[in-house]
Amino acid sequence: MKVAVLKEASGEARVAAIPETVKKFIALGASVAVERGAGEGASISDAAFAEAGATIEERSALLADADIILCIAGPDDLPGAKRGALIVGALDPVRRGKAIKAYADAGLEALAMEWMPRITRAQSMDILSSQSNLAGYKAVVDAASAFGRAFPMMMTAAGTISPTKLFVMGVGVAGLQAIATGRRLGAQVSATDVRSATREQIQSLGAKPIFVENVAGIEGEGAGGYAGETSDEYKAAQAELVSSHIAKQDIVITTALIPGRPAPRLVSDAQLATMRAGSVIVDLAAEAGGNVEGCVAGETVMVHGVTIIGARNLAGTLAADSSALFARNLYNFLSSFWDKEAGRPLLADEDEIVKAVRLTKDGKVVSERLLVPA
Ligand code: NAI
Repeated sequence: MKVAVLKEASGEARVAAIPETVKKFIALGASVAVERGAGEGASISDAAFAEAGATIEERSALLADADIILCIAGPDDLPGAKRGALIVGALDPVRRGKAIKAYADAGLEALAMEWMPRITRAQSMDILSSQSNLAGYKAVVDAASAFGRAFPMMMTAAGTISPTKLFVMGVGVAGLQAIATGRRLGAQVSATDVRSATREQIQSLGAKPIFVENVAGIEGEGAGGYAGETSDEYKAAQAELVSSHIAKQDIVITTALIPGRPAPRLVSDAQLATMRAGSVIVDLAAEAGGNVEGCVAGETVMVHGVTIIGARNLAGTLAADSSALFARNLYNFLSSFWDKEAGRPLLADEDEIVKAVRLTKDGKVVSERLLVPA
């Protein structure tokens, strides 16, 4: 059983294995081959992979006899890969329909890690959590770096600097880490979400919850712990609440996502105009259409004197840590299905995790989510 680790395309610094997971796959009885230079962006040398027991190979040799191909974002095609090989990574199935079809045509079994169900058993395999956590941290660090003021209150002989006011919109995994990071840097933090369960989490991190009251919206959690679409009445109440609050904020971190839909619009151009010049917004939902009007994914723009950072792949900018967590997610997933006698993972059709992540098998697209989109 040969596990192959791909070098990602330029622009993606992460790598899907680290020396620790190489050793663990070898301990399971597999051999591991890493594409030359795969770890460069994450500060892992070929020598470090070799020392862990991997061979270093070029792409064509790597693919020719690979049984399991590990990647961050899979390439559009994998010429020379064996039929029946697994390709495992953040395959972005909705946006990369053509590539998924190509995997099916090539007889590959594609497994999309971002579709891992949110069940206790799968927590250690959840790439969305491991990467969002780092993105939430980096969003605050990037905001601090773009902001022309200090975060903490400072009393100096030359006068007092007042603490930065930081507002987090959307308190999932990224939002919780953004709150914690903002607090550690000394900001005064407030936060909002549509899921009422987050109120206590916000408080427990020492931040102030800002919530729409007495309007029918989303009380508990939607399917799988995610949010759903809110009512028009709720949207109007939320906009009013945000308007009065946002005008007093220095930094806003938005993270609100609704699975399968464009990101909800939470900050309008009119609201931006009420913010102090020099304020900074980091929109973590930029790639899903953005929570902030005027946000451009992958770019930093200035609107009404407010800097809006359209964050893209922030976890990838912390490639050493994000690779380590991603690599462990992949290992935890594959090892939990590993059959010692067979010497490979056995992915049972009826398993809840397999059903959720499997996109293609035996030459066909088999994922229900792709065949019958929600
Ligand atoms: P996400 O990335 O899908 O969305 C981020 C946040 O935005 C969510 O908290 C969502 O409620 C919020 N949001 C959506 N629309 C909004 C709006 N109009 N206004 C304000 N906020 C809005 O969420 P994420 O980070 O993936 O987490 C969702 C939930 O799943 C959390 O409760 C998390 O704790 C849970 N979870 C469970 C796991 C497990 O059991 N294995 C693993 C990871 C997360």
